Amino acid sequence: MISTFHKSGFYILLIAFAFILLSFCPNYISTADAIEISSLECIKCHEKVYLEAINYTYQHSILKEACTHCHVRVKPQGETYSTMNFSTFQKEQIVHLDDIDPEQVYQAEVMVTDERGTRCLPKRVKTDIDDPSERNSQYTDIKTISNVTIDEVKKGGFVRAVLSWNTNAYSTSEVVYWSDKGRKSKFRSGRIFSKKHSVILPGLRHRTQYKFQVVSKDFSGNMIESDEYTLDTSKNIAKSDNSKYKPPTITHLTAFTIKGQPGVFLKVFANKAAELSVKLIEIKDRDTKHGFGLLDPIVTMIDTCTKCHPRGTSHPVGVKATGRKIRTPDELPTIDDGIITCVTCHSPHGGDNAFFARFDRNKDICILCHIGGY
Ligand code: HEC
Ligand code: HEC
Ligand code: HEC
Ligand code: HEC
Ligand code: HEC
Repeated sequence: MISTFHKSGFYILLIAFAFILLSFCPNYISTADAIEISSLECIKCHEKVYLEAINYTYQHSILKEACTHCHVRVKPQGETYSTMNFSTFQKEQIVHLDDIDPEQVYQAEVMVTDERGTRCLPKRVKTDIDDPSERNSQYTDIKTISNVTIDEVKKGGFVRAVLSWNTNAYSTSEVVYWSDKGRKSKFRSGRIFSKKHSVILPGLRHRTQYKFQVVSKDFSGNMIESDEYTLDTSKNIAKSDNSKYKPPTITHLTAFTIKGQPGVFLKVFANKAAELSVKLIEIKDRDTKHGFGLLDPIVTMIDTCTKCHPRGTSHPVGVKATGRKIRTPDELPTIDDGIITCVTCHSPHGGDNAFFARFDRNKDICILCHIGGY
């Protein structure tokens, strides 16, 4: 009686422990970028394995919910494809990722940096998610440029100026500028499209009269130029911003495609004007069955087990048999030329022996390796 009580007490503790671990362990929390495959999906294709498991005398109660925990990656096993920084300060922008491999799925990690250099927490979006409502609403031809303004002229070693203007359609931000003495210079935003444009021209000379023109091109290449304006770097123009400082955050992030255009467009809105950077991560070996892929055997057979069971509960793992008194058994599964895992002695889906042991009596299991005793 006492011992029964003892045992069930132990199980309650063990289960409680598993729950505590589940709630702390980041792998078990489904994050926004995790691929959601429910265990029901797994069971559909692996019915035989499942039916076998639920007919065992000793059940591993977590079996049904935990197919994914034990077997699949929750995050892409990616390598950085490239990072792109765009030097325009805008609140609402669309970036065209035109040179990505159409066969490959990427995860785009987007970040914005404000004028103080403070960064937001990155947000991620998959490039194969296409939002048709975005596509339809963004696709208008450019007709007008308005409100061309010099927001700021700031002096240091050189002078920098902040220019802004508006357009009716999402379009690029380009500035052509020149002084009497110099050749024409050009600033281009590259593949960033916006309706409220703001660019910084660094490295201007002191006490110089510049002429400039702003230029914007829409998605299909229609271009519009403004009149010529004058920028006098002997003047000081300070930005009047009395509002309380707020760190940058991304308020909207979606991916969409436009027919006839290569690659993918990302629409990024921030809470304030900020500079955009995009890191493209290639999602390797992604398939519809196993999402980001099956976990490595050593993870499935040791690390996932020790997330719920303390490592010291049982026999040492991650070791190989060395010496004359001990051998690697053919009867028990090991990995990488003899590394012992939890699954060497326990069948993970449950079993017909107590403790899901692969052999009936404890002794039987031990002497398979410890031929000279221990
Ligand atoms: C659409 C059917 C399908 C789905 C859904 C599916 N699998 Fe599979 N699974 C397969 C096939 C087919 C294979 C063997 C070929 C391969 O690896 O792609 C396999 C292989 C495996 C293997 C390796 C088997 C071995 O002998 O090494 C494991 C483990 C596995 N799947 C677990 C899962 C888990 C866990 C899930 C749920 C997240 C799942 N599968 C979802 C079809 C599926
Ligand atoms: C406690 C972790 C764990 C859970 C939960 C789990 N598995 Fe496994 N599974 C393993 C391990 C470890 C192996 C490797 C066993 C071996 O090689 O002997 C394995 C092997 C497999 C295999 C290939 C070997 C075979 O038996 O055919 C498939 C398929 C599989 N599991 C599917 C599933 C499905 C489906 C579920 C959910 C119903 C599931 N697993 C739940 C750990 C787990
Ligand atoms: C999600 C948490 C979780 C994971 C992961 C997990 N287990 Fe368990 N395991 C449990 C819980 C809870 C119990 C106790 C209830 C039960 O018998 O299912 C248990 C029981 C056991 C038992 C004892 C059974 C008995 O009869 O006393 C063994 C042995 C075991 N697990 C081995 C493993 C191995 C090996 C792995 C890795 C392949 C693993 N477990 C992964 C939660 C987990
Ligand atoms: C060399 C074989 C072997 C290996 C490797 C092994 N176990 Fe065990 N384990 C056993 C045996 C045998 C028992 C039954 C022990 C007993 O009778 O007290 C057991 C018992 C357990 C129990 C039940 C504990 C209890 O006191 O009720 C859990 C849980 C367990 N093992 C989990 C694991 C996990 C997790 C791993 C990997 C980290 C692992 N085992 C590795 C042989 C092994
Ligand atoms: C799959 C082979 C294998 C099986 C089965 C096995 N052992 Fe081991 N055992 C090892 C290896 C390998 C070591 C590590 C030896 C070393 O590092 O010197 C080890 C170490 C040990 C140690 C020493 C632990 C320490 O911390 O130094 C003990 C005690 C032990 N085993 C007991 C057992 C018992 C009891 C069983 C049966 C429940 C068992 N072993 C089953 C392979 C096995």
